[in-house]
Formats: sequence, C-alpha cells, structure tokens
Amino acid sequence: MRATDIITKKRDGIELSDHEIEWLIKSYTNNEIPDYQIAAWLMAVFFQGMTDKETAALTMAMAVSGDMVDLSQIPGIKVDKHSTGGVGDTTTLVLAPLVAAAGVPVAKMSGRGLGFTGGTIDKLEAIPGFKTTLERHEFIANLQACTIAITGQSAAIAPADGKLYSLRDVTATVESIPLIASSIMSKKIASGADKIVLDVKVGNGAFMKNQTDALRLAETMVGIGQLVGRETMAVLTSMEQPLGRAVGNSLEIKEAIKILSGQGERTLKEVCLILGSHMLVLGGKASTPEAGYCQLTALIDNKQALAKFGEFITAQGGDAAIVQDDTKLPQACFIQEVSSLSQGYVTAISAAQIGYAAMRLGAGREYKGQAIDLSAGVVMQCRIGQVLHCGQPMATIYTNDKSRLAEASATIQQAVRIDTQPVVPLPLLLGFVDKNGFHK
Ligand code: URA
Ligand code: CA
Repeated sequence: MRATDIITKKRDGIELSDHEIEWLIKSYTNNEIPDYQIAAWLMAVFFQGMTDKETAALTMAMAVSGDMVDLSQIPGIKVDKHSTGGVGDTTTLVLAPLVAAAGVPVAKMSGRGLGFTGGTIDKLEAIPGFKTTLERHEFIANLQACTIAITGQSAAIAPADGKLYSLRDVTATVESIPLIASSIMSKKIASGADKIVLDVKVGNGAFMKNQTDALRLAETMVGIGQLVGRETMAVLTSMEQPLGRAVGNSLEIKEAIKILSGQGERTLKEVCLILGSHMLVLGGKASTPEAGYCQLTALIDNKQALAKFGEFITAQGGDAAIVQDDTKLPQACFIQEVSSLSQGYVTAISAAQIGYAAMRLGAGREYKGQAIDLSAGVVMQCRIGQVLHCGQPMATIYTNDKSRLAEASATIQQAVRIDTQPVVPLPLLLGFVDKNGFHK
C-alpha cells in the first residue's frame, strides 16, 4: 500500500476502506510515513469529510494504536463522561462522586487545561497531597475500594491521536468534525469505557460556536459509538456564559464542594444532574432519566455524594479536610472586586473572555507545560438576565501576581455587556442525541 494512493483517493472524494485507514494510522504511529504526507491527507479529510464507516475505522485505528485498558475485572457497567471543553465547567468534579455514590463505577483518565478551558487533573492538583498519577494496580484497587479512580491521561493511550493532534494543530485541520469526533472517541474507547455520555457545549466559550455544528459533532460521536459497540448518548448544553461561577482550579474545587453540599450555582448543578441521570440509566442504576435525577438529588440532600468526594480524596492521598474547611486549599494573595461601571441588565457574558482573564491571572496555560497558579481565577457575581447597579460587584478576581489585576479587571469589564433592555437568556439544555436521533 502507498500513502500517495490513499491521499489521492481522499482528495478525490472516494471512500477509503477500513484496511487503508488502519494501514495509514499504524504506519504513521510507527514513523513509517512522514508528517508531510499525513498533513496532506488531513487537509483532504478537512475538505472531503469522512463517511460514518470511515470515521469509525479511524476511531478504532487510533484507539488500538496504544494500550486498550481492560476494566472487565471491575463489576458493573463503566460509564465514562466527556465534556467538549468550556469555561467554569466543573462537571467532572461534581459528577464523579455523585454517580459513584449511586453505584456507577467512575474510571476516568482526564487531561490538563490549555488556553481558556480548564482540565480536571489541574483542578485536582489544587487539593493538598492529591496524587494525579496512579499506577495501573492503584487505579484498579481504588476503583474496587471506593468506586472512583481518576488519573492523568497516559501517553500510552491512543498515541496515534496525540501525534495526529499535534500535526492538526499546526496545519489548520483541527476544526473538522470527523477528526474531532474520532479523536475524542478513540481516547474514551481505549480508556475502557463500556458506555459514554457526552456533554457537547455550544456557544462562545466552546469549540462549537453554533447549534448546527454541535449537533453534527454529537451525531457523529453517537454514530461512532453505535458502529463500534459502545453505547453513546450526548447532551447539548449552552456555553454562552461560564457554567458555574468559579473559573480557576482551587476556586472550582470550592464550587464543586458547594454543589455537593446542595448550594452553589443552579446552572452547574442542573447540568450535572442531567448528565448524571443519563449516566445512571446507561449504567443500569436507573430505569429512566427522571428516576436517575431524583436519586442523585437525594444523594446530594443526604450528603452521601459529599462523603463520597471525601472518600475519593483520601483514597488518592489528598487531604479530605478541605471538604469541611476550604481554607486548606491554595489561597491567592491578591483578591479584588470588579464593579459595574454602569446600571442596567446583563445581556451577555463572554465565557471565552472570562476564561482568558482567568488564564492571564495564572489559572491556565498559554502554552503546553506552563506552570499555573492553582489559587488564581475569577468568581462571577452576575449572570445573564439580572440587573446590575453602578458600583455593584460583577466578579471577584484572584491571583498571586499583582501586576495582572488591572488587565484582568479590564477584560471582565469588556466581557460583561450591560444594556437598558433585558434579554431572555438562552435555554441551558438544547437537546439530546441518542440512537434514536435528536430530541428535546
Ligand atoms: N478534543 C480532542 O480530544 N480532540 C479534538 O480533536 C478536539 C478536542
Ligand atoms: Ca473541562
């Protein structure tokens, strides 16, 4: 087989066989095909797209390019959840203890943040002592003992995806739905998930800026799951403003504790309950999403989900005292309120700009491998639809680098739009995609 022939076929819009895709990915992973040929192929895929069959073949070729985690010794259906990135998106930290408390095993490999979106592993590192790299035997032992184990994404998982992603990043081929869908699904499949719940974000703070693209991405990922025998469903949720109030690592841990204690931002809690209810259904612990929703609400009310969070922290070597006393988390030296300069209705909050401000305060990375300030970030004090008076706080900013305060404050002033007329906020939940297609 020759790479040139496969590139030509894709360029001309002819469907590739499973065998051709497997050969291409395997040869590239083994450094037998140069970057320039794969770059040409990626650009051909960008313009010609891929059929469902090709996308499934690409997903599996990337999944089997490294370790395939076998969780069959853990009883129960392993349901993984993936969010397509966002701002103030603390869902994993809330969902892991919540669904584990309902008996669904949570075996997760999570990533670090880049740009304005946060990563669960960075957030967990804000907990003193918490170990984010587990050996395989520790991962399994923790899962057996406390139903949750979360570890950093190992380089041995879907290495072909890592290599392809780096190339896409520098060849303007990231924004292709079959390439994004196969990239996400290959890692979930290789990490051992039996079933998958996807949270596909739509809006200015997300990868997918509009509902049409988000729906296509969701349908493509659900279709891959169906073709490769890992049942997948997707929830489409709005990311027009930060989901929770907190953006930043230790600040988001505090917010997760609040939600698990029955307080905190309604929108974040609602998205967690919706995603969790579907995880319970796929995991065989609830017969309907409505029943799952009630179960999860009860686990918050009776503090069992919060207790599970403490148990999970202890199991991974962290100081569970943070659950009762969040002053034990990293604290910023400089804390400043950003106040409204005018009076009116909040009509827009750019999640992307809030995420950017948090990153500049030290909460996120501008480049891979950059050190971050775990205590830094933004806590929003306003939401779309509410009235703000002149001088009323819109947000609080946290950092250890005093020189960053002025810029972050100005970015937040720009991010929050204040008008004389109110707007009706967009719905949080835009719909579902499962094997029966899209429905509200
Ligand atoms: N996230 C991924 O894991 N892969 C993509 O291609 C895009 C977002
Ligand atoms: Ca995230």
